[in-house]
Amino acid sequence: MLPLRIGLCGLGTVGRGTLEVLRRNAGMLAQRCGRELEVVQIGARSARPEADLGAIPFTHDIFAIAANPAVDVLVELIGGVEPARELVLTAIANGKQVVTANKALIAGCGDELFAAARARGVTLAYEAAVAGGIPIIKALREGLAANRIRWLAGIINGTSNFILSEMRDKGREFADVLVEAQLLGYAEADPTLDVEGIDAAHKLVILAALAFGMPLRLDAVHIEGITRIQPEDVRYAGDLGYRIKHLGIARRNDRGIELRVHPALVPERSLVAQVHGALNAVMVRGDAVGGTLYCGPGAGAEPTASAVIADILDIARRLNGGGRDAMHPLGFDLAEDGALPVLAIDDAETAHYLRVSALDRPGVLSQLAQILSARGISIEAIIQKEPVPGQDHVPLILLTNRTREREVRAAIAAIEQLESVAGPVVHLRKEALDEV
Ligand code: HSE
Repeated sequence: MLPLRIGLCGLGTVGRGTLEVLRRNAGMLAQRCGRELEVVQIGARSARPEADLGAIPFTHDIFAIAANPAVDVLVELIGGVEPARELVLTAIANGKQVVTANKALIAGCGDELFAAARARGVTLAYEAAVAGGIPIIKALREGLAANRIRWLAGIINGTSNFILSEMRDKGREFADVLVEAQLLGYAEADPTLDVEGIDAAHKLVILAALAFGMPLRLDAVHIEGITRIQPEDVRYAGDLGYRIKHLGIARRNDRGIELRVHPALVPERSLVAQVHGALNAVMVRGDAVGGTLYCGPGAGAEPTASAVIADILDIARRLNGGGRDAMHPLGFDLAEDGALPVLAIDDAETAHYLRVSALDRPGVLSQLAQILSARGISIEAIIQKEPVPGQDHVPLILLTNRTREREVRAAIAAIEQLESVAGPVVHLRKEALDEV
């Protein structure tokens, strides 16, 4: 059989990793898919990189790869929405199979791109777009296909998890750790995408589309990043038996679908709390299988290359067998759940962590308790630290029961009006991640 001819666009962290693994494991990969994988052209818009490209032709014109008749599969690793969108559309129009690691592209333009791929009868594969090396797309599309998914939740931004882990374990400063995450190749070219939760939102909408058979609703995700997490909240959460993790959550309830990314307290003994550094972990609960957990490196050169190459192998096997792609990503009609509305954050139900800076005087605690109980919110745990000499206010930390967000926001507004309370209330959500 003739080799499968690959055109590689982008030679950043993931591009170089992909080239390295394709070379190192060439013989084994050929055996696994029944033909050789040959990189026939490489393109990058910036100056010719340091990487040793051997005899492989290089171009600055990535569109030349989409037009090259000798390319069977275009691998898009340039990142960002434009010109990646145009590149992928051109490749599809020219009948090429496409593999991408680009979550911003799939989350923002996936509906258009999948429609184009379907119309042209080619595959657009994107395993590497979510959770790096963890085969979570395959797990949802294939391994869990028998299940009605109740919810999925997880750590899907390695940079944020790395920063929170280092802050907690080593007391390091946010800004320092972010620089290290950039050096290690975990962070996006624009790291605000990581720390403001946008990268996690991109990944969450892709997972939710697969889990619930719904459209890609990036516009409907409630997005919070980790920038407002203070070291004292990491400590207080620890005192109460919790860790703060940045989570993406897609949950179906009887009113609709919650789509949210934000930091949350998770029990210290939960599996997700043990996931440190740039690791990712995704929990998926299906009606037949129950709870499942997928964990592994969520960022970095070779873990992401592992997912890119898995997609190339799938394409090679499919082309060997001929015929249309029976497992087209997102190429299904909207499922029953997919027609449900996406809920506003006010309608989300979680437990809550509140840190209130209150005057140390009689009656303050009972005022807080009254405000909460008037809205049906119950206090599950409370810590008050002793006053520090010279300071009027003391921190009061409360954990509530599971409550509709709307009620908690109203209670916070009322608490902030109290004369005995100083400054805004710090509010974080708490997730047990164990209910069915
Ligand atoms: N910047 C991403 C992360 C890379 O930190 O998770 C993997 O998508």
